[in-house]
Amino acid sequence: MRTPVIAGNWKMFKPVAEATVLVREMRRELNNITGVVKVLCPPFTALAAVADLVQKTDIQVGAQDLYWEEQGAFTGEVAPGMVKELCQYAIIGHSERRQYFGETDESVNRKVKAALKHGLIPIVCVGENLAQNETGQTEAFVSSQVRAALRDLTAEQVRGLVIAYEPIWAIGTGKAATGAGANRIVGLVVRGTVASLFGEAVAQAVRIQYGGSVSPDNIAEFMNQPEIDGALVGGASLVGSKFLAITRQAAMSKGPPK
Ligand code: PGA
Repeated sequence: MRTPVIAGNWKMFKPVAEATVLVREMRRELNNITGVVKVLCPPFTALAAVADLVQKTDIQVGAQDLYWEEQGAFTGEVAPGMVKELCQYAIIGHSERRQYFGETDESVNRKVKAALKHGLIPIVCVGENLAQNETGQTEAFVSSQVRAALRDLTAEQVRGLVIAYEPIWAIGTGKAATGAGANRIVGLVVRGTVASLFGEAVAQAVRIQYGGSVSPDNIAEFMNQPEIDGALVGGASLVGSKFLAITRQAAMSKGPPK
């Protein structure tokens, strides 16, 4: 059985004071929700404050990126060991990093390996853009992203990963994929690619989230899909009541253990 993961990607929002207010608002109730893993991913500047605030809870903390080198003259970058001081998770290869900051399949793979080496759980993001979607390239493109991200990993490493399928056209647009559509890509393409590379048992163990305009109104539709193991939530994770509603519904809607 795969325990779903609900992760809030705060992106470049929430200075420390606001982050503190948001965590205090959600902390107790979020901690009481069982059956799903709950992860908050604030910006780097708020990681220490958030990690401190959730210390006596089972709420996990994730970074939004990391660099693969151990240390050195890399101005502006954050090493995996530094992330590990505060976090259990790290989002890697988000489409915004690929689009605006030159993230490539190769750098994603290096970051995934660095995160795993330091005992962090990567949330590896993949997903096609609108043009690719409309021209029938989704399957080939997403599969190639999965292959590249997981290159040279061991089956044991892949088993513990989280992968987020986030179609770019659904991110921040209010136009989420359909549950069935996302389930198809998650199962056939993402899990299918993992199966072809690492075997069916590994593919059945890896958690695969959906991301892109997830809200309290549509989370149940995604969670009711057999292949979807949670969500990576952007905009709605910035509002305490929405993130709580999403997490609560996610915990309720996953049926009995498969
Ligand atoms: P969104 O973002 O929920 O605001 O669409 C999702 C993401 O980018 O992870």
